[in-house]
Amino acid sequence: MQSVSVHASRNYEVLIGEGLLPKAGEKLAEVIPPCRAVIVSDDNVFALYGKTLRESLQSAGFDTMEFVFPHGESSKNLSVYGELLETMCAARIARSDCIVALGGGVVGDLAGFAAATYQRGIAFAQIPTSLLAAVDSSVGGKTAVDLPSGKNQAGCFYQPSLVLCDTDTFQTLPEDEYRNGCAEIIKYAMIGSEELFTSLEKKPVKEQYEAVVSRCVCMKRDFVEQDEFDRGCRMLLNFGHTFGHAVESCSQFSIAHGQAVAMGMAAITKAAVTRGFCAADTLHKLMELLEKYNLAAEIPFSAQELFLAAGSDKKSSGGSLNLIVPQKIGCCTIEKIKKDALLGWLQDGGIA
Ligand code: NAD
Ligand code: GLY
Repeated sequence: MQSVSVHASRNYEVLIGEGLLPKAGEKLAEVIPPCRAVIVSDDNVFALYGKTLRESLQSAGFDTMEFVFPHGESSKNLSVYGELLETMCAARIARSDCIVALGGGVVGDLAGFAAATYQRGIAFAQIPTSLLAAVDSSVGGKTAVDLPSGKNQAGCFYQPSLVLCDTDTFQTLPEDEYRNGCAEIIKYAMIGSEELFTSLEKKPVKEQYEAVVSRCVCMKRDFVEQDEFDRGCRMLLNFGHTFGHAVESCSQFSIAHGQAVAMGMAAITKAAVTRGFCAADTLHKLMELLEKYNLAAEIPFSAQELFLAAGSDKKSSGGSLNLIVPQKIGCCTIEKIKKDALLGWLQDGGIA
């Protein structure tokens, strides 16, 4: 097992390894005194892992209740969030009780936002079961729900008390979800670790979960510790995301986040080559790695469509936005550009 300490507005450990879920109760009791624990999960994940978690929490002295909602991004909304809060009120959950989020990023974001806002904040733990949640969303304290007007439009920063990642849970991940997680892992390699990039070339992620997840969590920890509230270097984690979010939005979210980020990384790297920020070899290596992980690079929308979609991205401010541009594998920079200039970047990314 690997343990990564995060020092932010709340300090916590991220535990990563095989066979951890049955020990969740014992590990949680080390940081939250046994209390009532609300297990929040989606129907897919709860059916697979709910019983193990419940039994583990109960045997460590927690009194449990469950809130399970239908899987998928369409559940990450104000209505499900409101239902969760109402259910907790009806059950008289107190400020001294806690939430345990069991699932992917949808569960973690929604449960985290509920924990941050229920009675002005109760403790919570993240138990990520998707690869994407393990390497990204469960660490760093971004919580949110979507509004009809856009993704993650209501949310706040609220750090968990514990993150426990049992890599055995990845065995049941559908292939598409594995690929989505791999896209975010390739992102980490591109922004900060040539060594990780090489290891992804040599050995599939699924043969080295513990090492890869730990490496990504350490990188994310470093960004969060320097810039918890996302005003500076944490923005590097958005590599591939400006174009990627536009792709998700144009596809009405039928193209998953990880796959869209892969397309976004390919296009921005192509634009970076055209504009002289990086060498053609960087693009070549990235394209090869994306192909190895069965991640499509071709964007099925026009530059104009993407430009309009990107205009409503919450990562832009005023008339400008921060674009993450690669210089070489393991190194990207933050380029502040005028919003209007984005169309040219998209076109230089090979998008007609
Ligand atoms: P998700 O939570 O919808 O999970 C993907 C699918 O995999 C779901 O159908 C889920 O039921 C299933 N699943 C999860 N774990 C499984 C397992 N072990 N076995 C079988 N099925 C399993 O999506 P995601 O990709 O995990 O997360 C995407 C969400 O995360 C988005 O809402 C995104 O905005 C958010 N996100 C947040 C942050 C952050 O910093 N908070 C970062 C990145 C993404
Ligand atoms: N997923 C980007 C971040 O946590 O900042």
